[in-house]
Amino acid sequence: MTSTVPVVTDISYQDLLDDPYPIFRRLRETAPAVFVETAKLTLVTRFDDITTIERDPATYSADNPTSLVNKVMGPTFMRKDGAEHMIGRKAIEPSFRPATIREYWAPRFSAICERLIGALAGAGEADLFDALAAPMASLSLMEMIGFEPMPWQTLAAWSQALIDGAGNYAGDAEIERKAMQAGAAVDAAIEAVLDHHRSHPNPSILSSMVNIDPPMSIEDIRANIKVIIGGGLNEPRDAILTLVLGLLQNPAQKRTVLAKPELWPAALEEAVRWISPIGMYPRRVTRSVDLSGVTLPQDLQIGLCVGAANRDGKRFADPDSFDVSRPKQSHLAFGAGPHFCAGTWVSRLTVGKIVAPMLFERLRNLRLRDDAPPVVRGWVFRGPVSLPVRWDA
Ligand code: HEM
Repeated sequence: MTSTVPVVTDISYQDLLDDPYPIFRRLRETAPAVFVETAKLTLVTRFDDITTIERDPATYSADNPTSLVNKVMGPTFMRKDGAEHMIGRKAIEPSFRPATIREYWAPRFSAICERLIGALAGAGEADLFDALAAPMASLSLMEMIGFEPMPWQTLAAWSQALIDGAGNYAGDAEIERKAMQAGAAVDAAIEAVLDHHRSHPNPSILSSMVNIDPPMSIEDIRANIKVIIGGGLNEPRDAILTLVLGLLQNPAQKRTVLAKPELWPAALEEAVRWISPIGMYPRRVTRSVDLSGVTLPQDLQIGLCVGAANRDGKRFADPDSFDVSRPKQSHLAFGAGPHFCAGTWVSRLTVGKIVAPMLFERLRNLRLRDDAPPVVRGWVFRGPVSLPVRWDA
């Protein structure tokens, strides 16, 4: 016996933004898939169901030509399936090779981090969002893409405008204008460096794209660089802040990790499980299908709530707690299946091996401020939007 997708009408969008976890729990307990009126989308929240979906890309397609991502950024490989997806993925692969990350990107990202932490060390207090996480994520992505140097705020603003445009379901004209303006600025920044990357091959993403045989077309380069800007800046930023927040709120765990630095990688995995920077991403159902007893009709748009699956009590004991010592168990924060995050290893290195360890080593007695609590927000994307801290300067 299968049933139709239930509809939930009493969830407020503000509640989803403020704290989606009680809502996610309710949805998990209600059905495998639930249409949430305020989100205008059918949401899948259970760990096992999302795993099933990601193993069957023929039924659950990432390809959606009418999606806002395609409208704002162009036809990107993240929203394609099969061979077309693989062509794009292969074109960027040289920049993400483990040896390239270790030998080329790691020293560069360490130098950026040294500079940022060195500049704020004497201050004794800061909001780590603007003082460290956002500039770190922006400056390292800028180098990785192969752009000419620019203020970190510029790339961060483009990223935000593109993300806002891709989520502009209400069709707000001002959001669309800003997204298109950011897109044009990205196109110009690409144009300014393409000849250099053609004549001087190097590990940057733009160089990988133009020097592969056959080279990626300019339309594809523009679309895919926009997706990488939209997907490769806010997420490591939020992972840095979430990891620091988890440790500062749990001083015993902080002491354990500082005493055993080999625990840093596990601490990062736990941070992105606990508060997943990408909480939801979309798929399209290509044929009528049964998902754990619920019928999903052909062409239904669904949202895979990995932020909910990563707190599924059937998969993780005491799922709402941050616990760096929990038994090792794979999570879905980097996605799964063919679209598994291309930036996983570079993020693991940057956040878990460079930024967080250096921060706690250099800023002695790092602590939260009683008078300025951290603020965490979002459900499609979630992370601290403010993390005020003090240390002994
Ligand atoms: C902690 C940091 C990060 C998290 C949590 C994260 C998460 C994700 C998730 C969940 C997806 C799947 C999206 C989907 O299937 O629709 C994804 C895809 C992707 N991510 Fe990340 N990401 C992170 C960092 C990065 C970075 C730093 C880069 C690039 C420098 C990057 C590049 C990409 C790309 C290119 C894809 C598309 C892969 C494909 O379609 O084959 N990500 N990411």
